[in-house]
Amino acid sequence: MTIFQFPPDFRWGVATAAYQIEGATQEDGRGLSIWDTFARTPGKVLNGDNGDVACDSYHRWTEDIALMKQLGVTMYRFSIAWPRIYPNGTGEVNEKGLEFYETFVDALLEAGIEPLCTLYHWDLPQKLQDSGGWTNRETIDAFVHYSETVFKRLNGKIKNWITFNEPWCVSFLSHELGAHAPGWTDFQAALDVAHHLLVAHGRTVRRFRELGMAGAIGYAPNTEWFVPYSRSEADLQAAKRRHDYFNTWFFEPVFRGSYPQEQTAHYESKGFKLNIQPGDMEDISQPIDFVGINYYTGGVAKDAPGQGILDIEVVDTEMEKTDFDWNVYPEGFYQVLRWVKDTYGDIPIFITENGACYEAEKKDGRVKDRRRTQFLRRHLIALHRAIESGVNVKGYMQWSLLDNFEWAYGYTKPFGLVHVDFRTLERTPKESFYWYRSVARNNWFST
Ligand code: NOJ
Repeated sequence: MTIFQFPPDFRWGVATAAYQIEGATQEDGRGLSIWDTFARTPGKVLNGDNGDVACDSYHRWTEDIALMKQLGVTMYRFSIAWPRIYPNGTGEVNEKGLEFYETFVDALLEAGIEPLCTLYHWDLPQKLQDSGGWTNRETIDAFVHYSETVFKRLNGKIKNWITFNEPWCVSFLSHELGAHAPGWTDFQAALDVAHHLLVAHGRTVRRFRELGMAGAIGYAPNTEWFVPYSRSEADLQAAKRRHDYFNTWFFEPVFRGSYPQEQTAHYESKGFKLNIQPGDMEDISQPIDFVGINYYTGGVAKDAPGQGILDIEVVDTEMEKTDFDWNVYPEGFYQVLRWVKDTYGDIPIFITENGACYEAEKKDGRVKDRRRTQFLRRHLIALHRAIESGVNVKGYMQWSLLDNFEWAYGYTKPFGLVHVDFRTLERTPKESFYWYRSVARNNWFST
């Protein structure tokens, strides 16, 4: 038997996001977001699903908090819906929106659960999209203004803030690959969006300091770990291009104030350009207090001249997969954490997301999801190994508390520790819930 003991002040938590769980999209003055529009566009979301009801957490949040208490977690990562605060993105503030989150945060604190708050988890007000969304630099100002309103209202109650969740998804998945709202397929636009998100992040951090807000601020880039198909120089370079596209692009500007050089040259060789204005890189590289890491998967990259913009092929080596068809690759989790530490130093890290999609049937009141427990155990072993090796990880937020609206896949991809029946909205803890509960309570587990 091996015991995996975590540091004494380690935080165990769960994560969700507003559009994926709240529902109530037409209530209390909330404005439309790009996800309301996208979900209503035929063919964009599986089965035509949308977030109108989702887990109905806007009305059932007391149940969610009770579940978290039962789970024994001491941190909850959630996001604020920008269109509830500014229905049109800017202009008139919606007091009801602020009230909702304040009441919710007070209840969390009352329950002994510390909020970890994300300001942007993808629900851009539609009004801003109508003038170009994140390709328009005015959206940067609107975001800083929205963040300032939220900071002032919740100052002192929220100790840890996250500006952006998964900027790669907001830029490349949504504007290059077209899989997420607003569904564009324009690589240049994706590059511009990535840059504007980073500028918005940095300016928000600066504003946070200027306002003298209590607490810490960071962001939550998504990470993955790709290995080269062979030891040939060409394949090593291919894996590096994938790594720079997905990971480094969103770290280097924040930590070092510049974009990765070779990758920039690669994009330029394909006719794309970086649209950087004077002062942008200084804004982006404001010192942050922690970095959030979202990690799910990894893979194998092979050099393939002429294939896509990156000139690579992603090779399926038939690794074990989740029900999302994502490779199960815990070793990559360790490697990503080591990479952050070795490249960017001893920055405190929160694991802001890690988890897996596995289908599981509810039968006689029980939901057996052995594979989720196994996935979590393997990833926690990798995490433990990283911590033992000196990586400064402060806490782990499992994705997700509840089965929820999985974006382009609607309600078909369950990630929750808690099963949600989307007809009755009844919540039932799965078997993995009880395993994670013992980890959170004990601060260790054994194999
Ligand atoms: C990352 C995203 O932040 C979250 O919204 C999503 O549900 C999970 N990955 C699973 O795909």
